[in-house]
Amino acid sequence: MKNIKFIFLFLITVILSCGKDQPVIDAGDLEYIPYEPHATEYKRPPFYPKMEYPADNPPTLEGIALGRRLFYDPILSRDSTMGCFSCHKQELAFTDGSATSIGVDGINGRRSSMTLVDVGFNYKGMFWDGRAASLEEQALGPVTDPVELHTTWPEVEQKLRRHNAYPQLFRKAFGIKDRKEITKELAAKAIAQFERTIVSTGESKYDRFKQNKDFLDFDESQGLDMFFDKQPFILPDAQCGHCHNEPMFTTNDYFNNGISLASYAFQFFDKGRAEVTLDTNDVGKFRTPTLRNIMLTGPYMHDGEFKSIEEVMDHYMSGGHPTPKRDPLIAEIQLTHEQREQIIAFLKTLTDDAVLRDTTLSNPYK
Ligand code: HEC
Ligand code: HEC
Repeated sequence: MKNIKFIFLFLITVILSCGKDQPVIDAGDLEYIPYEPHATEYKRPPFYPKMEYPADNPPTLEGIALGRRLFYDPILSRDSTMGCFSCHKQELAFTDGSATSIGVDGINGRRSSMTLVDVGFNYKGMFWDGRAASLEEQALGPVTDPVELHTTWPEVEQKLRRHNAYPQLFRKAFGIKDRKEITKELAAKAIAQFERTIVSTGESKYDRFKQNKDFLDFDESQGLDMFFDKQPFILPDAQCGHCHNEPMFTTNDYFNNGISLASYAFQFFDKGRAEVTLDTNDVGKFRTPTLRNIMLTGPYMHDGEFKSIEEVMDHYMSGGHPTPKRDPLIAEIQLTHEQREQIIAFLKTLTDDAVLRDTTLSNPYK
């Protein structure tokens, strides 16, 4: 009888303690660390539009710092040998210098690494085929990709929770109360914040010329005029500016550039955009990449098939392979040898040395 009374009393206490004003019973292990994030804005050259970003991932100094560490930390790979930085190297404008990238198992992927400079301004899908909608979504991919970091997120989450520095950094960036709240989504948010800081400085020779701070020499300016067809009655139209337009030197749209030798849709080794849209009209279409820092981002094209910028020019001058869906703008272009060199001279003015040396973008562990 006595026991029943006690159980009854116990139940009453439990029910009462569920009231709103009760303190949280299970306090997180990080709550002693202050959560005071510092909001910031992404920097950009004066002639760039403002960068858009998801409303649920506004930039903070703490988020960017965490993302930078994750980007440069091999903790994201199965055997702790690689990280994002392995295939996106600052000195190569965040590409890797290989035709196609090699992952932790030494396996070659089928595609070439992409520059991350100005990646935050691309709203038309990430990757060559646009299969990830946002940087946040993209950042989840490489960790589990068998030809990239080849591990699992639960494993990475465990490593981050047990780490001696990361729990505090996640607390400072996102206000989590307990290390158990570290998730892949938060890691991806932080990486995306860092990636959005990889922005052109506006100090390339071309940008300085546009801002009246520098001059282009004769060859460079002839190249520019052919690239953007500025002297239609005097110089040939190289067509480039239609797809690689200002200020990012890309529209981020998808085109079939006549890269692959294929007469029928099924013959494409890499179907590109069609793998996402499942539309046969998109077979062989790839996203137009920026040409900023193009002298550093070779080998070129989604499959890295052109080793030099000269080979790229030869491709465009020939019009490439006449595949069924080749874009009408990709057709034979008549350029003299000198004019071909002038376009290359112009492309060289797009190198932004300042972004390659920017110490806020470099490896924080060095
Ligand atoms: C093994 C090399 C490798 C590693 C490691 C790697 N990447 Fe990449 N990255 C690539 C390749 C290759 C592509 C293009 C893939 C495709 O289009 O299918 C790419 C594409 C991207 C893009 C798309 C850029 C654009 O303009 O659409 C972003 C963003 C990116 N990587 C960020 C990251 C981040 C963040 C990490 C670490 C979590 C990472 N990468 C790890 C090779 C790598
Ligand atoms: C119809 C649109 C279009 C036109 C016109 C065009 N491009 Fe491209 N460009 C693309 C696309 C799409 C890609 C990626 C194709 C692929 O990888 O399969 C590309 C890729 C490139 C690349 C390789 C970039 C990299 O990071 O690998 C270079 C260099 C380049 N173009 C330069 C030029 C030049 C120079 C011209 C003018 C002679 C030009 N493009 C005209 C759409 C175009």
